Amino acid sequence: MKFDVTSHPEPTPEARRQQILADPGFGTNFTDHTAVIDWTQDAGWHSARIEAYGPITLDPAAAVLHYAEEIFEGMKAYRHADGGIYTFRPYANARRMNRSARRMAMPQLDEELFVQSLEELLALDAGWVPSGEGEALYLRPFMFATEAFLGVRPAREFTYRVIASPAGNYFGGELKPVRIWVSRDFARAAPGGTGDAKTGGNYAASLAAQAQASEQGCDQVLFLDPLHDNAIEELGGMNVFLVTSDGRLITPELTGTILEGITRDSVIQLAKDRGMTVEERRVTLDEWDRGVQDGTITEVFACGTAAVITPIGELRDGDRTIASTGTGDVTQAIRDELLGIQTGVVEDRHGWMHRL
Ligand code: PLP
Ligand code: COI
Repeated sequence: MKFDVTSHPEPTPEARRQQILADPGFGTNFTDHTAVIDWTQDAGWHSARIEAYGPITLDPAAAVLHYAEEIFEGMKAYRHADGGIYTFRPYANARRMNRSARRMAMPQLDEELFVQSLEELLALDAGWVPSGEGEALYLRPFMFATEAFLGVRPAREFTYRVIASPAGNYFGGELKPVRIWVSRDFARAAPGGTGDAKTGGNYAASLAAQAQASEQGCDQVLFLDPLHDNAIEELGGMNVFLVTSDGRLITPELTGTILEGITRDSVIQLAKDRGMTVEERRVTLDEWDRGVQDGTITEVFACGTAAVITPIGELRDGDRTIASTGTGDVTQAIRDELLGIQTGVVEDRHGWMHRL
């Protein structure tokens, strides 16, 4: 599909762009452009365009504002030594967005068009990709219901957009083990719900728990399976892995209530490549606690696009600190390998990188 450039931004002054790139933080600064495609029931996807980044006009009755018909993706673009800009497994994100779309009764977007939208945006905003250690341009494709109608049924008009934001460490500052708060008052997802869809409502539902975590001095929330007491699911925005002293990786299985992380899938592959056994199964907080205490669980880490691979230090469950591990060798090695592939310094033997 042809993308027209329909509005030209006042480019961010060079000195300001350099200042942002020198210390990007996470999610607060945005590039000059946005890619947009509209969908209507009659015309399908149309009006693909690149616009100046800026506020958008939405009817106050737009369905997304009332019934939260919205999905999104998260991915990153990296600058390689060959001067090219690459992204990681974009077709996996495209497929996941279409799975989310099905669950939320939203239209499918052709995988090639999804990838093309990233290419079109980066063709104009390539100068926004930071190149410091652990830094990248975070890409946020999203789709939402624009139809002005208050009846509750799948909307008939949607917009798809991509925005981009230079990003450093999601947790701020240098990489260090994060503190996790176990959510006892709030569940994230239940069977048949939307837990495995990347839809805004899941994040809205996580915020009260995340606020509790912050009040307790923790960085992220761990959600438990609401039906099986003490089985762990995932963090508010990351999947979780446990590393055993005999070289196994354990991670909660995909049961429909957790997000199928692309980083999770890649970690499983890299671990298998190293000859490690990977167990995708139910794993309880008690197994985690006991394992750390008797030394059979040596490392725990969180993973996701924003978080990359971040060691989990302390785990707090109410008044108890039930386990504590630091940054271990396995966590560090898998992080180094994954980041190495993403930044083009380690061989991409699975063909995961896509030049934009
Ligand atoms: N779980 C949740 C709830 C997330 O929001 C994310 C981030 O996208 C992940 C897991 C990790 O997914 P990915 O590795 O595809 O970024
Ligand atoms: C991502 O990692 O892309 C996410 O969507 C998670 C969010 C915590 C930023």
